[in-house]
Amino acid sequence: MSVTVKVPAKVNLQLGVGPLRDDGYHDLVNVFHAVSLFDEVTAAPGPLAVTVAGASIEGVPAGPDNLAARAARRLADHLGREADVSLHIDKAIPVAGGMAGGSADAAAALLACAALWEADVPFETLLELAADVGSDVPFALFGGTALGLGRGERLTALPCAGEFHWVFALADGGLSTPAVFAECDRLRAAFEQEASWPHESPDLLAALASGDPKALGAALTNDLQPAALSLRPSLARTLAAGREYGALGGLVSGSGPTCAFLAADAAHAAELAAALDEADVARTLVTATGPVPGAHVLP
Ligand code: C5P
Repeated sequence: MSVTVKVPAKVNLQLGVGPLRDDGYHDLVNVFHAVSLFDEVTAAPGPLAVTVAGASIEGVPAGPDNLAARAARRLADHLGREADVSLHIDKAIPVAGGMAGGSADAAAALLACAALWEADVPFETLLELAADVGSDVPFALFGGTALGLGRGERLTALPCAGEFHWVFALADGGLSTPAVFAECDRLRAAFEQEASWPHESPDLLAALASGDPKALGAALTNDLQPAALSLRPSLARTLAAGREYGALGGLVSGSGPTCAFLAADAAHAAELAAALDEADVARTLVTATGPVPGAHVLP
């Protein structure tokens, strides 16, 4: 018997980063949006193990260091049982790309193990266990479009009309999330910028609620973008190319280095992806839509 869970990637539509907290985290105003790039995680009985397959999986830890194994152990602890599960991850979400691929796998592992072990865990409890594993893990269970406060783990669903069309420019190699947050702190100190408390953007919330891609494109913001650009200056060219070829908006996704561009519709997204491919500003271009549901067990 085995259980397979499909889980989406995310892009941050607004990532407001507050001051560094005493616990090493930053308070965020984080608007998450789940998009149609998916990993699949299969759980089967066996000694705790993680295997990974996919086209570009360099740097993904197999075995107990994988976040999915940590999630299995966290659920097993909660249930007072052994984490006797073999997890297999089929990866399509870019690795260390700012699209929460590792967090998605952890969320999928929680759900898959709960089903495999026939444990009736309330959704609220799964969200709490997810937050113990990582700040972005609860949203991968939640899906859709949501506001995340605190470390990003305190979630509220946001009204979002219709479907948005995205182009993702995937980079060579990843960026480390802690390194990008640290660079953000360093730049703020160097330029004597006070880290002010972030606020939700009324323009962004209105654009989502009305399903207006042009308004959404104009409202996208990411406080980590200067830090990602500082660590990976070549992203400036990628972002400029997106603007030049008519994206409605573009930004670094989360801590990067993936860049996300909003298109008017599916045809525009395909055109934009082809133009960016031609311009040679990314390793590869993929199109996706959002919002999509969070992690769910496949029949
Ligand atoms: O929660 P998670 O383990 O995914 O976070 C990884 C790292 O990202 C943290 O150790 C911290 O450096 C940074 N982070 C942060 N503030 C947040 C979320 C993450 O500084 N709200």
